[in-house]
Amino acid sequence: MIEVKNLRKSFGEIEVLKGITTSFEKGKTSLVIGSSGAGKTVFFKCLLGIYEFTAGDIIYDGHKASNDTKESKKERRTNIGTVFQYSALFDFMTVEDNVKFPLDMFSNMSNSEKEDRAHEVLKRVNLEENSFKRLPSEISGGMKKRVAIARAIVNQPKYLFCDEPNSGLDPKTANIIDNLIQEITKEYDITTIVNSHDMNSVLEIGEKIVFLNKGLLAWEGTNQEILHTEQEDVKNFVYNSNLMKKVRQALIKEGK
Ligand SMILES: Nc1ncnc2c1ncn2[C@@H]1O[C@H](COP(=O)(O)OP(=O)(O)OP(=O)(O)O)[C@@H](O)[C@H]1O
Ligand SMILES: [Mg+2]
Repeated sequence: MIEVKNLRKSFGEIEVLKGITTSFEKGKTSLVIGSSGAGKTVFFKCLLGIYEFTAGDIIYDGHKASNDTKESKKERRTNIGTVFQYSALFDFMTVEDNVKFPLDMFSNMSNSEKEDRAHEVLKRVNLEENSFKRLPSEISGGMKKRVAIARAIVNQPKYLFCDEPNSGLDPKTANIIDNLIQEITKEYDITTIVNSHDMNSVLEIGEKIVFLNKGLLAWEGTNQEILHTEQEDVKNFVYNSNLMKKVRQALIKEGK
């Protein structure tokens, strides 16, 4: 579980995160949403430990980031899996070597153990064995996402951070990837946080949704609650597409 307490982050004079308090539970997929410039990426980078925050605290399963030593910070880093936007695989390494990479960095396993573990997670994300020795340029975008997820979980992380995990994918593949992230979160009891502005993802996997607006937490709730909120800024975000406007009309018509 990750608890965020009154988190603030400034760059010089400019305060980007203005005191965010929320929590993210184990075994659940939480979504951070909000308009461009709301502060989602900055928030993510604070959670990842890439940015030092200015005030407040982040508590990872009882461990306060503010009490971190160099060692504890490094140890936490090994407990975090990340799926970057556009997958960010190393294009000069095979699929299998991409997935083995975190084990090369952080584990004491033998080469054959690493290979077995890499194969195990690649199979878990339903990647076919004949792709294991291919280069990222030789597989599709959806397959690259699977590899990125496999790489993120190979080290059995406690926390999984996904930045726009389905950007650039067709809606059907995006849906499959969203569901895969949710399944893995439950199966391995991970605290998963997804940065997204895809309403399909919000409705499909948003067990908890945190809506940021201008550096503040403007709303939080579930994917059921977000459809019924009367809060203007959230409504403007949720019902900004024609499809979602139709969803709203249908809900009103059904009296929901
Ligand atoms: N390194 C930085 N130095 C100064 N200002 C920054 C820095 N990184 C982000 N900002 C500012 O913080 C604000 C929030 O940026 P952020 O990237 O978190 O937005 P976002 O919600 O992720 O937007 P998007 O949906 O477009 O990715 C922006 O006004 C941005 O200019
Ligand atoms: Mg961003």
